[in-house]
Amino acid sequence: MASAVYGAPPPGLALVPEGARQLSPFVVGAEALEDVADGSLDEIVIAAPASAIERRYVLAQALRALKSGGRLVALAPKDKGGLRLRRELAAFGCEAADTARRHWRISAVRRPAARTQLTEAIAAGGPQVPPRLGLWSQPGVFSWDRADPGSTLLQPHIADLVGVGADLGCGVGVLALAALTSPAITALALIDLDRRAIAAARRNVSDARASFAQADLRADAPALGGLDFVIMNPPFHDGGAEDKSLGQAFIRRAAAMLKPGGLLRMVANVGLPYEAVLAERFKDVRLIDQAPGYKALEAHR
Ligand SMILES: C[S@@+](CC[C@H](N)C(=O)[O-])C[C@H]1O[C@@H](n2cnc3c(N)ncnc32)[C@H](O)[C@@H]1O
Repeated sequence: MASAVYGAPPPGLALVPEGARQLSPFVVGAEALEDVADGSLDEIVIAAPASAIERRYVLAQALRALKSGGRLVALAPKDKGGLRLRRELAAFGCEAADTARRHWRISAVRRPAARTQLTEAIAAGGPQVPPRLGLWSQPGVFSWDRADPGSTLLQPHIADLVGVGADLGCGVGVLALAALTSPAITALALIDLDRRAIAAARRNVSDARASFAQADLRADAPALGGLDFVIMNPPFHDGGAEDKSLGQAFIRRAAAMLKPGGLLRMVANVGLPYEAVLAERFKDVRLIDQAPGYKALEAHR
């Protein structure tokens, strides 16, 4: 039986078939849902994303990839799209019912012979250039349709960098593009966990000095060392929940990648507690700019 899973459904709420292929863009090396052949899956279990365009895209892609009569189980917390699942699946032509468990809604459907609105949902949630951003992006990636104010604050402070560096959590490449205006950069590694972000960054940053990698910077970081500089706007959400330790892990990772004396320039929300870990791993930590809600920092290893 050909089965797949998207994301990490909580154990006890949905049974993931043994041997199911993982299709989440946040799992390093996982196959892409988009690449699964039409009508090839018997079953898919989906931990549905919270944002509506992204969720409808994933459901539509799953209904494309399922065989007629194949089983789709989608689940989400009630307040993060769960209450809309049944209606969204009905709009695709599925006879949907749902059940409530804990704070979740679970919808199990069979793929109907006639599906509706799949093409529209796949186009709306696929790779595109949102006019306000002007770069390749995709619903679901960080700040997908407009520049993040934190990144905008840091941009003018990264145009003078020199040597070999990395952009940790590069997203679609907003910071990398600003940095690569410096002719003194010889190489820049763009790293992100989100496969969709890396795919967009590859299209946006067509510079021979850039390299791209999907990696989890908390765990299996690529073997980079002796860097002259690191730039970053570190994440502070993991799977939708605030996680301050993620940014702290990025700071430790940056320190490990830099050469002694190497330069870190980063931006963060003002309320995030990064100073202690910066002081632990870096010297000369200083505020270089601020805007309402954001701080830009510089430090040397
Ligand atoms: C705040 S965004 C910054 C994106 C981009 N640099 C910008 O300025 O627009 C943080 C990025 O970190 C990525 N990220 C989150 N967790 C990660 C992890 N464990 N390893 C690597 N990247 C991660 C996210 O996918 C996101 O693109």
